[in-house]
Order: sequence, then structure tokens, then C-alpha cells
Amino acid sequence: MDRVFNDDIGVKIDNYLSDLYAYEDDALRSAIEETKAHGLPEIQVSAVQGKALQVLAMMARARSILEIGALGGYSGIWMARALPDDGYMISCELEAKHADVARAAYERAGVGDKVTLRVGAALDTLPELAKEGHSFDLVFIDADKENYPAYLEWALKLTHRGSVIIGDNTIRNGTIADSKATGSSALALRDFNQIMANHPRLVSVAFPIIKEGIDGMTVGVVR
Ligand code: DHB
Ligand code: MG
Repeated sequence: MDRVFNDDIGVKIDNYLSDLYAYEDDALRSAIEETKAHGLPEIQVSAVQGKALQVLAMMARARSILEIGALGGYSGIWMARALPDDGYMISCELEAKHADVARAAYERAGVGDKVTLRVGAALDTLPELAKEGHSFDLVFIDADKENYPAYLEWALKLTHRGSVIIGDNTIRNGTIADSKATGSSALALRDFNQIMANHPRLVSVAFPIIKEGIDGMTVGVVR
């Protein structure tokens, strides 16, 4: 693919937007530091993306949020802070170690009482949540890319009219726009975007997110 984007400009824009719109308090900064200190992959959403998740959750007047992929808790803090006093978030996390780091991060951020971690494969947890009768106002999918289409299928079962469904990493430096891409995650993300774009119950769009390189978030509303 032709390269039309210079990383330096991306960093400059992201720094400008983060400074202006996405102030990180001590709890958010330490969520990133602890993610690093515990050797978790440093692949959390950017500050601007975190703020975007918070804004979207507030626009959706979300009282219940489902996150698929907690990692060290960074994105969860941004979203949980959008919840009203009686709101709650459930965050699915495969790795017990990641869940421990995330739990401590939620406590430090003052949202520990609103967030429940469910440890294990999300494809095991999601049917349990359905049995328990949950219907979420917002679902954020940010876990293993190969399962995005399956997570989306569950997200549609676990939401209602007006709910918002968001997927992270849906542009991936343009591999998603490369019809010759063959990697399993690129193929799954292309499938995910196709479903988000064409599902009769969804009205969706994807936004490029500028970091080092360009990634994106796909956002859909359930009708
Ligand atoms: C990866 C995963 C993510 O969710 C992300 O935001 C960035 C990178 C990864 O698996 O490489
Ligand atoms: Mg991600």
C-alpha cells in the first residue's frame, strides 16, 4: 500500500489532541505504568481513544457496559467513569494476571465498586451473561482479533435498541483496506467491519485513530 502518512505528524497530532482533550490523572497514568511493570503487552487504547469511549458511553447514557478484553484496566477506567452512580461495568479478561492488574487499577481510579472482572475465555463468559439476563447499553470489543466476528454475534444478543457496539483496531495501518491481506487477524477484522457495516440491526461507521500509524474504532448503534 502507498504510504501517505508520516508517523511524526501522527505523533504531533495525537499529542496535541491528548493534551487538549484527554487529561490523564494519576490513576490513568499508573494504569499504564503498572501494565508495563507487570510485563503485560503495552497495547492499551490511546488517551484520545479512552476519552472517545467515555464520550460515547455518556452519549449512549450507558448504565451498563460490557468490555471484552480488560488488559491492565486503562480503557475500562475511562468508560467506568462515564457511568452514573447506579451503573456497572463487566469486563471480560482471559488472563488472571491481567485481571489482577486491572482490578487494582479500577480500585485506584475509584471505580472498583462499579466494575466486575470475569476471568476466562470471553466466549465462555458471554453465554453466561446472556443466561444471567444482562442487556448492555454499550459493548466494547478489544480482545483477540480472530474472535471479533464471534464477539460481535454475542454483542448483538447482549444489547438492545439504542445500544452502542464498538470494536477497536479496525483499521490497523490500512491492512484492513488491503484486499490482499492474508493474516488471520486482518481477515477477521475485515469480516467484523463487513458485519458492522451491513448487519440489518446496526447503523455503523469507522473512525481512523491517529497514533504512531493509523488504527481505528468501528462504532455502531443497534436499531
Ligand atoms: C494489538 C491488540 C490491540 O487491542 C491493540 O489495540 C493494539 C495491538 C495486538 O494484538 O497487537
Ligand atoms: Mg485494542
